[in-house]
Amino acid sequence: MVSLVEQAAINRTNLLKGVSPEILSEIEKIEEILTVSPETLKKITAHFITELEKGLSKEGGNIPMIPGWVLEYPTGEETGDYLAIDLGGTNLRVVLVKLLGGSKFETEQHKYSLPDNIRTAKAEELWSFIADSLKVFVDQHFPSGTSKKLPLGFTFSYPASQNAINEGILQRWTKGYDIDGVEGKDVVPMLQDALASRNVPIEVVALINDTTGTLVASAYTDPEAKMGLIFGTGCNGAYYEVAKNIPKLEGKYAEDIDPNGLMAINCEYGAFDNEHKVLPRTKYDLQVDEESPRPGQQSFEKMISGYYLGELLRLILLDLYHDQHIFKGADVSLLSKPFIFDTSVPAKIEEDASYEELKDTEALFKEILGVETNLNERKLIRRLAELIGNRASRLSVCGIAAICKKRGYETAHCAADGSVYNRYPGFKERAAQGLRDIFDWDLEPKDYPIIIVPAQDGSGAGAAIIAALTEKRLAAGKSVGIKQ
Ligand code: GLC
Repeated sequence: MVSLVEQAAINRTNLLKGVSPEILSEIEKIEEILTVSPETLKKITAHFITELEKGLSKEGGNIPMIPGWVLEYPTGEETGDYLAIDLGGTNLRVVLVKLLGGSKFETEQHKYSLPDNIRTAKAEELWSFIADSLKVFVDQHFPSGTSKKLPLGFTFSYPASQNAINEGILQRWTKGYDIDGVEGKDVVPMLQDALASRNVPIEVVALINDTTGTLVASAYTDPEAKMGLIFGTGCNGAYYEVAKNIPKLEGKYAEDIDPNGLMAINCEYGAFDNEHKVLPRTKYDLQVDEESPRPGQQSFEKMISGYYLGELLRLILLDLYHDQHIFKGADVSLLSKPFIFDTSVPAKIEEDASYEELKDTEALFKEILGVETNLNERKLIRRLAELIGNRASRLSVCGIAAICKKRGYETAHCAADGSVYNRYPGFKERAAQGLRDIFDWDLEPKDYPIIIVPAQDGSGAGAAIIAALTEKRLAAGKSVGIKQ
């Protein structure tokens, strides 16, 4: 069987047949800076482990390593009806989850499109929008009212410090969100107040990160699930740490927690290497960072997550245009527009099946930018998309490898969700190859001991299971990690 690496080399040769020497030379320069060798992956992983540990220490580090107050591994027998919401990039998803036990659950959901300007709206508009949507949902699903308040798990996928499961103090917005008046504050009362003023019978019992939800939902159905990962607009992971290995809990809560018990940790490792010690950043990565609303933050995420992949492609193309290698004499005013390419653009370019002509790419550039491309340019564009996608997939797995090494997992199911994982062509295969390069497995891909598997519905079922675990803890008279 031809390996992924061999196949990629064959594809490259086929793609670059007939390309002009000028374009070939530009491609080679970019290959040089966007290719991540196995040695580099290993070096990054080693540094990642020390950074995970630093994040758990009292002093802290770049990676927040936020204790998520999920202190149990679900048994699969949790039951009950719960509401869950997930504030995503483009939608607010509201889910009614029925946990049935026997590792089974059912969901009914509705998606409410977020207003266009929501990323930079006023805090008030955000909470009103969520509360109004919940009101509509509850009115529809419980037309004759409710006998008690409905418990809700709130998936809030931003770094939020938690002294309790029903608290979330936003450290800072990520993924291009920039809403004033929320950073530094607890978002739970903000939502709860907006609900109360509309008389919506809901109690927010748990605030969870999407990665923690993914971890717990997957563990509900798969005891081998060791991690919850999101490869989407942002990039992050959660896993269970042994409580005594979390020094920053000492003196604060440690006396109430079993030292040998578990605590889910939302790593927030999108912030890995904000000190710029190991990541092979290019001038384009620096530019993405400088032009973002939060320069200096989320260094790792800005190289790999969906929110930035199209932007990286745009910046490289613009640079090549300015140096007069492509689009000569064309009107590229649209290419100068930040974020004109969302992730679907490099994804579609990589999906273009007509290797000899790249017709879909031609149509895409005409449609989005109004630019006519020649075949030379399209081959370059295709190669760039491959390089950006491959780099993202390979770097992405350093977090997985670091957690496995830190926890001593020799085998693991790493449950993943998110648009890049689910829809970016080749991501899964390239990520598996990245893990192979770090661990030096001499095995067929089907036998790799650490594998990325599709997650269960983290922001729906995960939030519900966590809400159920929290209620169970409270009912057993243990209020540790629950704000009353
Ligand atoms: C960003 C957020 C993080 C989230 C991830 C995936 O990194 O800061 O909380 O888990 O995106 O959505």
